Order: sequence, then structure tokens, then C-alpha cells
Amino acid sequence: MFADEGSRPVRLRRLRKTPALRALVREIRVSAQQLVYPVFVVPGSGVKSEIDSMPGQFHWSVDRVADAARSAADAGVGGLLLFGQAAIKSPSGSEASDSDGVTQQAIEVIKAAVPDLVLCTDVCLCSYTDHGHCGVLVGDEVDNDASVDRVAQVALSHAQAGADVVAPSDMMDGRVRAVRTLLDSEGFIDVSIMAYAAKYASAFYGPFRDAADSAPMFGDRHGYQLDPANIREAIREVELDVAEGADIVIVKPGLTYLDVVAQVRSQFDVPVAAYVVSGEYAAIKAAASRGWLDERTAFMETLTSVARAGADVIITYSAIDVARWMTESRSR
Ligand code: PBG
Repeated sequence: MFADEGSRPVRLRRLRKTPALRALVREIRVSAQQLVYPVFVVPGSGVKSEIDSMPGQFHWSVDRVADAARSAADAGVGGLLLFGQAAIKSPSGSEASDSDGVTQQAIEVIKAAVPDLVLCTDVCLCSYTDHGHCGVLVGDEVDNDASVDRVAQVALSHAQAGADVVAPSDMMDGRVRAVRTLLDSEGFIDVSIMAYAAKYASAFYGPFRDAADSAPMFGDRHGYQLDPANIREAIREVELDVAEGADIVIVKPGLTYLDVVAQVRSQFDVPVAAYVVSGEYAAIKAAASRGWLDERTAFMETLTSVARAGADVIITYSAIDVARWMTESRSR
């Protein structure tokens, strides 16, 4: 056993003896305020229906979505990330930038219901295009520059509806600059950009594509999302997004890319968000439902690990549950 100067054995277990001692010396604390809760809005009315592939998560219609926002606010969650869907899909995903679209309507409803919650919106075309890709096609290719123009229009429509933060998730080159330029020229200088900067082509988005009805009809997203093997390239993506005006950068997925979170944290001074994605959520839910692990401890450990890697903001489907658990354990 290692010994200190006086040859006394070092006893690291001393500070692990009681819950109070462990709490006193804890290095990382996750707080509800840093959590962002994703919310799925769908066309129609009277809808609150559980998403098969994401137990505990729901599709909400505009007339009911304020309930989701109020639950998050009551639990103390810091913000929401809104995902919309088209009533009618089209090649260019035109509904995505429609002022009457479900996202834009939901923004207004949520802002009125819980004005203090930070309202972020996912800016992408994949739930609105009939081919399911995140941009506009020319032939079978996703055309970068045509897509960037559309993405900027979508972001503007969200800002006009009252979003605090727009989050472009399409991974086209140059979209952060285009969004910033358009927002500024239209007077939305105070609307922040949270860029999905390091977004990988991941199998862990599987359950989400059911939730957002956004699976590509042909091909995959490897032509625009990052190769899972690359970290230097991820750093370049972050560099570009910061240079183009991103206020917050997202690493996604979070759990399977903790090394990327840590490196982005150490190399950049902007706030870093980690997105614990649908597959990472569903895996824990599925195992817990079989009694193979304890859901509550597993989610707490997951979020702690993401925070320990350096995330300031954590986007997670377990945000409301975790926020409630934290309040409960404080009151005990
Ligand atoms: C849309 C988008 C996706 C996710 C967030 N925004 C799916 C994708 O890129 O295929 C994934 C979220 C999750 O899996 O939780 N581009």
C-alpha cells in the first residue's frame, strides 16, 4: 500500500464513508438548470401519444404542447428543444419555414405559457422533405448551398415566432454564417445560435427517426454527418461554426463521444452542449424495463459522465425525470 511521509497508509476510502462526506467532496454536480428537454410537435389536435421507440416520450399537438412545457418548467429544467413535423412533406420541405407550421405555432404557444424557459428549436428539413434528407436534392445529392438558404429561412421563421435559440442540425457547410447573417439583417440580433457542430452519422439516432418521421427514403446521412472515427475533423467543424458565429456548440451523440466533448471543452471557450440521443436513452429504458439495470441510477450516472467530460448544457430525454429525482433526493 502507498504511504505518505509519516508512513501512514493512504486511505482514500475515508472520504467515501457516508453520503454526507461523499456529497461534500463531490467534483461534478448536474443541475436541472443545465438540462434541455426535447419536445416533439405534430400536426393535428388533441394529440398526446407515446412514441413506441422512446418510452416515456410523446408526440404533442400544438393545442396540448404547453402541458409538456409546463412539466419541464415545474421540474426546474432549463430549456426546451422543439422538433416539428410537416403535415404535408415536399421536395424542399417548404412547410419548415411556414409561419403557420406546427413548430412556429408551438413556439408561440410555449412562449406564452412559460416565458422564462429557454426555448430552443431544431432547425432542419428532414422531417419536412418527402425524401427525408436534411437538405434539398439536386439529382440524388444533397445540394449544400441550396440547402443552406432553406435552413436560414427556417431559422428566421422560428425567430419570428419567438424562439430564443435556433439550433441548425443539418450539417451543411456554411449554414451558421448564413443563419447569423439573415437573423441580423432581419433584426434578430439577440437570437442565439446553438450549432450542432460535431454531429456524427450515428446508429443511435434510430429511435428518433420514428419520433420525427425523418428517416431518409434512400441512402444515408454519411455524406454530410461526421464519420464516427474522426475527432480532428470534429474539431475543424467546431472551429468553423464558432468562426461563423455559433454561440453554443453541440457534440452529438453525447455518451458515445465523451472524448469529443472533452476535447471541444478544452479547446474552445464557448459553452458546449452534449446531446444524449434517442438511442442512448432508449437503450437504458429497454434494459431497465427488463430489470437489467436501475433506470434512475443509470440516467444520473450518464448525465454526470457527460458533465464530467465538460458539457455545460445537456440535452436529454430524461431531463424532466432527472430534475424531479434531484428535487426528491434534496428533500429527503
Ligand atoms: C435532424 C436531427 C436528428 C436528431 C436531431 N436532429 C436525426 C438525424 O440527424 O438523423 C437526432 C436526435 C436523437 O436521436 O435523439 N437532423
